[in-house]
Amino acid sequence: KEAKLWGGRFEESVTETVERFTESISFDKELYRQDIRGSKAHASMLAKQGLMDDSDRDKILEGLSEIERLIENGEFKWRADREDVHMNIEAALTDMIGEPAKKLHTARSRNDQVQTDFRLWCRDAIDRIIPYIAHLQVALVTLALKNEGLIVPGYTHMQRAQPVLLQHHLLAYVEQLERDIGRLVDCRARLNFCPLGACALAGTGLPIDRFMTADKLGFSAPMRNSIDAVSDRDFVMEFLSANSIIAVHLSRLGEEWVLWASEEFGFITPSDSVSTGSSIMPQKKNPDPMELVRGKSARVIGDLVTLLTLCKGLPPSYNRDLQEDKEPVFDSVKTIVGMLEVSAEFAHNITYNKERIYRALPAGHLDATTLADYLVKKVISIA
Ligand code: ARG
Repeated sequence: KEAKLWGGRFEESVTETVERFTESISFDKELYRQDIRGSKAHASMLAKQGLMDDSDRDKILEGLSEIERLIENGEFKWRADREDVHMNIEAALTDMIGEPAKKLHTARSRNDQVQTDFRLWCRDAIDRIIPYIAHLQVALVTLALKNEGLIVPGYTHMQRAQPVLLQHHLLAYVEQLERDIGRLVDCRARLNFCPLGACALAGTGLPIDRFMTADKLGFSAPMRNSIDAVSDRDFVMEFLSANSIIAVHLSRLGEEWVLWASEEFGFITPSDSVSTGSSIMPQKKNPDPMELVRGKSARVIGDLVTLLTLCKGLPPSYNRDLQEDKEPVFDSVKTIVGMLEVSAEFAHNITYNKERIYRALPAGHLDATTLADYLVKKVISIA
C-alpha cells in the first residue's frame, strides 16, 4: 500500500471504511483544470523567488501539462487512496518526474490550494452561465417580436385584470434575467481574490510573491487576511443564491407556460418537439420540459440551503466539513445551465392561439380601469 502524502507521522494506514468515507476524488476531479493552472502559477512564482530551481520549475510545468493531456484523453488513473484531486495530481507528478515534484507544495497547503481551485472554478462557471441567460433573453425578445401587437389578458391574483401587449408581458421576464446577470457579475467581482499564500491558515515566513500568483491567475489581488482566505465560503453562498434567484424566475416562467398550455387556458401550443406524451393516455401532450424547470428549481434552492447549513456552525479557518461544499455547486451549475437551455428552446417553439386569447379578452371587464381613467379625464376637463 502506498504511503499517504501526509503519512510521515502515521504508524498505521487508515481503514478501508475511513478511506471510502473521506475521499473526495470521486467528485472533486472536476477541479483538475483549475488545480493544474494554480500549481503552474505557484511553481513559476517559487522559481522567480529563488525557492525552486528554474530546471525543476520547467520539469513541473511540463509534467503538469502532460497530466492535463492524460486527463483530457481519459488516460489518467484517478485513485481513491490518493484522496482528492490535489494529491492525485501531485502524486502522479511525482511518479512522472520524481524529486522536483516534491518541491511544488512549498509554501502551500491544500487549504489555500482548494480555495484557489474552487474560486477559479466558480469564476469559469459564472462565465459559462451568463451567455445562457443572454440566449434566453434573445429567445423571449424573438417570441415578442414574432407576436408584435398581440394583446393578452394581464392578470393579478390570477384574475383577469387589464389588457396588455404580449411583448410588454414577455419583456418583464427579460428584465428579471438582466438583474440575474448583474448578480452573477457582482458575485464574480467579489470572489475574484487569490487565497494562495494563506497556506494552512497563518501564511508563511518564506519570501513568496502573492501578487505574482494572483496576477498570473487573473485575480484582482491576493486576499488580505489568511485566516479569512481558508475560512471563507461566502462566495459560494452568494453564487448559489444568485443561481437560486435565477431558478425561481425560471420556475415562474415555467408555471406560466404550463398553465397557458392547459385546455382551460389554451393560450399557447408548444410544438411537438418540446412536448412529451403519456404511456397510458394516447391523447396527451404535456409541457414536461417546463414542468421540470419548475421542479428542478427545488434542487438549486436545496443546493443553497446545503451550503448555508454546512457553514452555519463552523469554527473559523479550514474544517474538513468544507469538503462538502463542492457537490452542491457542481449540481447547481449543471442544473441551472440545463434549465436555461431548455427554457430558450421552449420559447422558440411556442405558438400563441389568437382565437382563444381574443375570446378571453372581452370577458371579465378588462377595460374597467381604462373606463375609470376616461371618466377622470372628463371630470378634469369639465372643471
Ligand atoms: N479535499 C479537501 C477539500 O476538498 C482538500 C483540503 C484538505 N485539507 C486538509 N487538511 N485535510 O476540502
